[in-house]
Amino acid sequence: MKGKVYIVGAGPGRLDLLTIRALEVIKNADVILYDDLIGDVAEFLKETKAELISVGKRRGLHKFEQEDINRMLVEFAREGKNVVRLKGGDPFVFGRGGEEAEFLAKEGVDFEYVPGISSAIAVPGCAGIPVTHRRFDPAVVFITGHESRERLNWNALAKLNATIVVLMGLSNLESICKNLIENGKDAETPVAVIEKGLSKEERILVGTLKDIAEKVRAERVSSPAVIVIGKVVELRETLMQSSKL
Ligand SMILES: C[S@@+](CC[C@H](N)C(=O)[O-])C[C@H]1O[C@@H](n2cnc3c(N)ncnc32)[C@H](O)[C@@H]1O
Repeated sequence: MKGKVYIVGAGPGRLDLLTIRALEVIKNADVILYDDLIGDVAEFLKETKAELISVGKRRGLHKFEQEDINRMLVEFAREGKNVVRLKGGDPFVFGRGGEEAEFLAKEGVDFEYVPGISSAIAVPGCAGIPVTHRRFDPAVVFITGHESRERLNWNALAKLNATIVVLMGLSNLESICKNLIENGKDAETPVAVIEKGLSKEERILVGTLKDIAEKVRAERVSSPAVIVIGKVVELRETLMQSSKL
């Protein structure tokens, strides 16, 4: 019997934001390899019949190298198992899901991509910040504040009329703001930092490109956090007045 790998998005961490398809494949899984940042979904996994393998980071360090995870996915599938590779948010948004899918395709292993709600949209949205709004910028750009930062064209980014959503950007927030200001973005552009979105520990800090890094330092904000740069941040005040986001 041939096994199959499901590359599944767990959404932004709340069980009720998991898709129906994700729920189906999780319930049917023989083995689940899961990352950190899956929130309530982690508890739910314990109720399934599957063997659970945590492959996320511990104290910022990867417990497993990407090559080890790729190899495990292939081996379990070749044993005829239904394998769920569960990732926070959407697997194809800064989640290495693309790399894993590529590896499985090259190895000739059957796989299915199950999309999830990305934290890049849901974390700001639930904090009262829609990433687009017709009155403001006509585009939204998602960037990583992490390893591929050097490859970004900061000049183009600063000049683009776009909301900028940064994942994994907390430790480089100061240089991100500096790069944007030096390349011509208004230093008064509103910025929101949403720490541990959709959880009981959620905190939201609002400032500008000029002062947000200092505020984040002073408040000792820690990962995970989504950073939103753009005028849409101003909507938060209105949206939070009467909504139960
Ligand atoms: C490796 S990326 C994975 C993103 C994921 N694939 C997605 O679509 O949401 C991890 C980053 O997502 C963001 N993130 C994920 N969950 C979050 C949460 N609950 N609150 C704030 N940020 C979160 C943070 O920027 C974190 O550093």
